[in-house]
Amino acid sequence: MDSDWQGKKVLSLRGSMRLLRPLNTLYKSFFDNSEEGNYARFRIAEKTAGLWDQKFTVTECAKVWLEDQEFFDYYEKLVGNNYRSADRKFFLNSLLSLVDSLPGDTSECGVYNGASSWLICKKFAETDKVHHGFDSFQGLSIPLDIDGAHWHKGDLKFNEDIAKANLEKYKDKIKFYKGWIPEKFAEVSSKEFCFVHIDVDLYQPTLDSLGFFYPRLVAGGIILCDDYGFKTCPGAKKALDDFMKDKKEKIIHVPTGQGFIVKK
Ligand SMILES: C[S@@+](CC[C@H](N)C(=O)[O-])C[C@H]1O[C@@H](n2cnc3c(N)ncnc32)[C@H](O)[C@@H]1O
Repeated sequence: MDSDWQGKKVLSLRGSMRLLRPLNTLYKSFFDNSEEGNYARFRIAEKTAGLWDQKFTVTECAKVWLEDQEFFDYYEKLVGNNYRSADRKFFLNSLLSLVDSLPGDTSECGVYNGASSWLICKKFAETDKVHHGFDSFQGLSIPLDIDGAHWHKGDLKFNEDIAKANLEKYKDKIKFYKGWIPEKFAEVSSKEFCFVHIDVDLYQPTLDSLGFFYPRLVAGGIILCDDYGFKTCPGAKKALDDFMKDKKEKIIHVPTGQGFIVKK
């Protein structure tokens, strides 16, 4: 009898602790500025995201890159305070270190506001590499059926002068080619490349970019496709899958949504 009563007491104590834990988390999230408070805020964000959609997966908190002030100063200046592409920009920047001892220029297909080109230019500012930026500056070309229903012609149009102003600091390192891909590629047909960022969201310009740059990529060079892992860009994924089908290199699909290849 007595031990049964003790057991019930322990159980009810555990039950109250379980009830108190969320209240403690809530309290800390408001009033605790330490790492524990940060973790409490993270736990609430994680639980809340799960309420709406299990696929809004929130991964571990306290990542060091989120504290990289120099990176976020750049990001907020060029992109603003929408952090949706921060992980992709950070990953692109990290990948650049893999090619910094290689010969060849760099390129971006789909410059938009210049935020990714800025990172590429900065990385190679002290070298003789030239960065070649291709964009219609009229937004997307006409999507095909394979591109799904998300995109329309003209989406993502960005003002060329503002893009150039964003890249003013690197004006001696970058050449712009305004026009529909692949029209202007012929102007760089004699060059070789160590890093190419393809970010045009659609099947045809992604395929055309791969067709042009892959044979001009030096061994160890990287082609990074920004749109590979996004449900909104099925055409971009198909283009890379189709193009690489008969090639030696594997496509590396990373959790940021990007996909890349390293030339053998
Ligand atoms: C998603 S934005 C690029 C974002 C940019 N790379 C960044 O990291 O901030 C896509 C860009 O591709 C350009 N674009 C799309 N289709 C194109 C095509 N067929 N020819 C040339 N440019 C194209 C658009 O004008 C737009 O600026």
